Amino acid sequence: MLPSAQPYNKPMIKRAIPKSGEMLPVVGIGTYDTFNVGPAAPERAELKQVLLDFAAIGGSVIDSSPMYGEAERVVGDLTGELNNRDKYFFATKVWTSGKQAGVRQMEESFKLMRATRMDLMQIHNLLDLDVHTQTLRDWKTSGKIRHMGITHYHAGAHAELETLVKTNTYDAVQFNYSLTEREAETRLLPTCLDSGVAVIVNRPFAQANLFGRVKGKPLPAWATEFDCTSWAQFFLKYLLGHPAVTCVIPGTRRVAHLKDNMQAGMGRLPDAAMRRRMLEYWRTL
Ligand SMILES: NC(=O)c1ccc[n+]([C@@H]2O[C@H](COP(=O)([O-])OP(=O)(O)OC[C@H]3O[C@@H](n4cnc5c(N)ncnc54)[C@H](OP(=O)(O)O)[C@@H]3O)[C@@H](O)[C@H]2O)c1
Repeated sequence: MLPSAQPYNKPMIKRAIPKSGEMLPVVGIGTYDTFNVGPAAPERAELKQVLLDFAAIGGSVIDSSPMYGEAERVVGDLTGELNNRDKYFFATKVWTSGKQAGVRQMEESFKLMRATRMDLMQIHNLLDLDVHTQTLRDWKTSGKIRHMGITHYHAGAHAELETLVKTNTYDAVQFNYSLTEREAETRLLPTCLDSGVAVIVNRPFAQANLFGRVKGKPLPAWATEFDCTSWAQFFLKYLLGHPAVTCVIPGTRRVAHLKDNMQAGMGRLPDAAMRRRMLEYWRTL
């Protein structure tokens, strides 16, 4: 298996996790739904190519969770087969209640993902937050995990995320942000920037809903001014144009979509004035 031919002549942009200084490529990949396939599923062949091309093009952040069915196992199996674990930044989550249940679940994630270290462990949807925060602190001190974070998927939790970001406890926060879900722009994103907490954007396409609105519609000619050649890149570059955003994690099971999405992390990004123009245009669609 070889990386497919790539037309890219620009490097992937990287941004730092402020608290550790580690540089992350700005386009990662999510695994919810897309990587939830069984051991003998024919879809595994394309997912393996997706992971190979992802690394070859310059990606590294893979986001998973025990909530995503078989996804952690598929990531572990396929990166094991590719024998290229060192190319990736593994992020997963704890999603249960109780200290021992959390420890057991996270140990299982290590096994499934075949990880000897976890680059980022996140508390999924803030479930049993205080209990897991203590475990993550201990595991970070002992070196079992490298970064700790919190996640949510809904704007109803943004006020709580904002309070937590200010406590200086977490290296990263993951939440929903897209052209149709812009609530984070008011307070949460500026707070993350001020507090030096890395931002990982989930649901950047609002679970593919954004594509429905632009079906059959051409990109505006001025999209070339920020090196944008597709709607997927338009949607992702809008998010990456925000200075608080460290990384976006679109989910895909398709090599063609992966290659499209990765190009959003290359070339020019829109500045504040261009982002306003993009938003105005989006509202006319
Ligand atoms: N609470 C949490 O912590 C939380 C909640 C939600 C999500 N997440 C994380 O965030 C990740 C991203 O969110 P998501 O997967 O729910 O939604 P998303 O990334 O907004 O959208 C994924 C959908 O977009 C499609 N797609 C991807 N690239 C495309 C392209 N270039 N052109 C056309 N369609 C494209 C995919 O279909 P194809 O497979 O056909 O490409 C898939 O159906 C998740 O996978 C997960 O890792 C975390």
